[in-house]
Formats: sequence, structure tokens, C-alpha cells
Amino acid sequence: MAERAPVVWVTGASRGIGASTAIAFARIGASVVLTGRHAKQLRGVAARIKSEGGTSLSLMCDVRSAASVSRVHRKIDESVGAVDVLVNNAGVTYFTAFESTSIKQFDNVLSTNLRGTFLCTQRVIPDMLKGGRGYIINIISVAATTTFMNSSVYAASKAGILAMSRGLRAEVRKRGIRVIDILPGAVDTDIWHEGARKKYGEKMMNPDDVGDLIVSMYCQPPGLTTDEIVIRSPEGDL
Ligand SMILES: NC(=O)c1ccc[n+]([C@@H]2O[C@H](COP(=O)([O-])OP(=O)(O)OC[C@H]3O[C@@H](n4cnc5c(N)ncnc54)[C@H](OP(=O)(O)O)[C@@H]3O)[C@@H](O)[C@H]2O)c1
Repeated sequence: MAERAPVVWVTGASRGIGASTAIAFARIGASVVLTGRHAKQLRGVAARIKSEGGTSLSLMCDVRSAASVSRVHRKIDESVGAVDVLVNNAGVTYFTAFESTSIKQFDNVLSTNLRGTFLCTQRVIPDMLKGGRGYIINIISVAATTTFMNSSVYAASKAGILAMSRGLRAEVRKRGIRVIDILPGAVDTDIWHEGARKKYGEKMMNPDDVGDLIVSMYCQPPGLTTDEIVIRSPEGDL
């Protein structure tokens, strides 16, 4: 019997790096699950995948909510089977000085970036452990290890993912699960204000290139893996 296509769940697949990653995985024949909070945008990405001959399933999911993540995980399991690759990509930031950051903003950044990664990863890990294989790919940021102004809370959330992920990797790597942390520099997406994109867009990485890089992390030879990788535009940070 032919092996089934790998099931790849990309969170925050409605635009930016997530959309590019989903499209890139569909191009290698994966069965891609697109999740996010906006159905119309997800449909646009699904249509693009379909137009290229790929297959995808779109589901609404707010990664901050344990109930939403559980419901979606169940639906994925019933519709396409156990997740082989989880790309924890959904993320937000505000670009505000520490003293002007509200508690609401703090909670939203930590819940989306750190808690969201925790919730989605916890759902898929048991099946991966049962099967003795799987990929957790975390889209972190150079902000996890490099200091930038107006990004303290975002940096804390990303450093939190990096620390959590290192611990998880130590626990599961001998049981067939590869945990791959990707720390990108600036990428030209909606996460940036219009003004920043106008000013620095040319110096930012292209999300499609980042999507291809993420797929290449899955396509590595069986005898090696990448634990952590930092990617920047050739000119470096903005
Ligand atoms: N762009 C950069 O320079 C850069 C650099 C390093 C790392 N990153 C990281 O890359 C990831 C993707 O960012 P991006 O640049 O592609 O930004 P983006 O274009 O703003 O996309 C963010 C994605 O996250 C989703 N999302 C936000 N909150 C969510 C929630 N509560 N539940 C589910 N999905 C949610 C959004 O979908 P909906 O709003 O439709 O739900 C959207 O699909 C983020 O983790 C970001 O921190 C970006």
C-alpha cells in the first residue's frame, strides 16, 4: 500500500509566512491543514493551493483557546488523520515601548505566541510519540536572542518558545520527534506597519523564500536534523 501524504498543520496560515509555508508544503504533495481566525483569507490560500493541484483543509482556530485547539485537532484527526508535521507559526506583536504596553497587549502576545505553541504542540505530541516520528517546527524570531527596541514583550514570548522548545526536544528527540526552531529576521508581511514595509520592505526577506526554507527543514536527509536555525536577509537586521 502506498504511504499516505504527510499531514502538515500550519497555524496562522491565512497570510504571510504561514500562507507561504502551506503553499510550499502543498507543492511537495503534503496534505495541508490551514488554520487561522479568518475564513475568507484561509479560503484564498486554499484556492491558491487547489489551483496548483494541491490539497488542503481549512479550519477556523484561535490558538489562544484550548477548546478551539482541541476541537480543531479532533477535526483534523477525523478528516485527514494524525498530524505528521506541526508548524507553530501563528503570532502577533505590537511594536510598543515597554511603558506603553497594556496588560491586554501583554496577554494577547503571550497567549498567541507562547500559549498557542504550547496548546497545539501538546495536542499532536501523543500521536507522534505513538508513531515514533513527527516534526514540530516553531517559527520563532531573531528577537528571541537579539535585543530590539519596542519589542520587549514579543521578545519575551519568543524567548519563551525557544526555552520551552529546547526542553521539549530533550524529552522527545530519542523517541523519533524532531523539534526544529527557526529564528527569522525581518520578513515582508502584514505583521509590520505599512510605513516600515515601505521603508524597509526591500531589505526584508520574502515570505515565499522563508516558506521554502521551512519545507527544506522537513526534507533533510534522515541521518541529520537541524535543531535551531537563524535566517536573515543578506544585509542583516534592519
Ligand atoms: N514578519 C517578520 O518579520 C517575522 C520575523 C520573525 C518571526 N516572525 C514570526 O512569524 C510568524 C508569522 O508572522 P507573519 O510575519 O507571517 O505575520 P502575519 O502576516 O501578521 O500573519 C500572522 C498569522 O498569525 C495568525 N494569527 C494571529 N493571531 C492568531 C490567533 N489568536 N489564532 C490563530 N491564528 C492567529 C494570523 O491569522 P488570523 O489573524 O487570520 O487569525 C496570520 O495568519 C509569527 O509567529 C511571527 O512572530 C515574523
